[in-house]
Amino acid sequence: MQIQNNISLKPFNTFGIDANAKHYVSVSNLVNLKNILTAPDYPNKLILGGGSNMLLTKDFDGLVIHINFKGIKIISENEDTVIVQANAGENWHEFVLWCIKNDFGGIENLSLIPGNVGTAPIQNIGAYGIELKDVFESCQAIELTTKTIKSFSKTDCKFGYRNSIFKQEAKGKFIITSVRFKLSKKQHNLSVNYGAITSQLEVMKVSKPTIQDISKAVISIRESKLPNPKEIGNSGSFFKNPVIPKAHFNTLLENFKDIPNYPVTEHEVKVPAGWLIEKAGFKGKSFGSYGVHKNQALVLVNYGNAKGEDILNLSKLIQKTVLRIFGISIEAEVNIL
Ligand code: FAD
Ligand code: EPU
Repeated sequence: MQIQNNISLKPFNTFGIDANAKHYVSVSNLVNLKNILTAPDYPNKLILGGGSNMLLTKDFDGLVIHINFKGIKIISENEDTVIVQANAGENWHEFVLWCIKNDFGGIENLSLIPGNVGTAPIQNIGAYGIELKDVFESCQAIELTTKTIKSFSKTDCKFGYRNSIFKQEAKGKFIITSVRFKLSKKQHNLSVNYGAITSQLEVMKVSKPTIQDISKAVISIRESKLPNPKEIGNSGSFFKNPVIPKAHFNTLLENFKDIPNYPVTEHEVKVPAGWLIEKAGFKGKSFGSYGVHKNQALVLVNYGNAKGEDILNLSKLIQKTVLRIFGISIEAEVNIL
């Protein structure tokens, strides 16, 4: 384990922002992590996973701890289900592919989401009708003050839409070291009703889909909409989809008859932020080195050498414009650092 100084974080964040870390260390096991946490020299720490949900707006004047613990193992199984544990530094999509190869079902709809396994519980990653909470069994995390390992059950995690205890009262207090999943071994409960999955399966000429077919369909839909961070820097959806009171939604309907919506409760409606941003005129707009993606208005992009601050300012302009036109505050999903 070697601490490096003045390291560019550009290769470590999918937005491709060139911010520097004063100190950087890649940690591949728990013993090393505990050692680094007890060293008194680095009071200011930033935990880094796959760097796919962060916008770096300045240099980091402290120690970046890059979580790179690897390992996947089966904890227990019966005829129908299996409990699998993956260490925090495993790449999420590779873990999904490992599960599919072993015919373990439940996370195939979450194919191709970037980032690490250890970060997945933080915002309860979700896509195509499934959220992490649907397959989550528990996670283990080291508490920064006591350096002890604590286990969090599904109830402890208080999962919500793009939300968990790790974004609320436990924020910045724990490093997740491993996650356990409860997956199906047979009679997989397939989720095909969201978005374009069914039509994509038809294109693929699949009438009785397997978990592998669903994964392939999701990958293909995602590739058609979302920019590949290896080609264009981005962090996925920059904002969360807002939930608004039904009364507010009904007044908007008077002027915007085509506003898409998903009921949340009897009194609340979720509205796609991508639609609001597109209607506000930002879709596909370029401001030189940065802009709004042409196929998905919820994704802000770095065409090469943008500064994090430029993208942050664009996000504020979008928030202000959406608020002025629709009276809706849209909240960043990306972690702004
Ligand atoms: P990082 O960006 O490294 O970290 C995110 C935050 O978590 C930071 O605050 C960091 O300090 C903290 N952190 C990192 N690791 C740990 C740890 N082990 N313990 C404690 N704190 C930690 N998300 C979805 O939910 N659904 C999608 O469909 C989706 N699509 C995406 C598509 C693209 C093209 C991209 C670029 C992103 C997408 N995302 C999506 C967002 C992103 O993939 C997820 O939020 C992912 O879980 C982030 O993981 P990461 O390891 O890259 O996190
Ligand atoms: N829409 C537009 N214009 C756009 C984009 C979207 O009008 O430019 C409207 C369309 O009506 C479309 C609807 O928004 O039908 C929903 O769009 P999409 O299916 O692309 O999903 P989303 O709501 O924009 C969410 C997640 C994604 C996730 C997809 C698929 C959030 C913030 N985003 O996007 O997650 O992959 O659903 O489930 O909830 C991420 O979190 O980074 C992410 C990419």
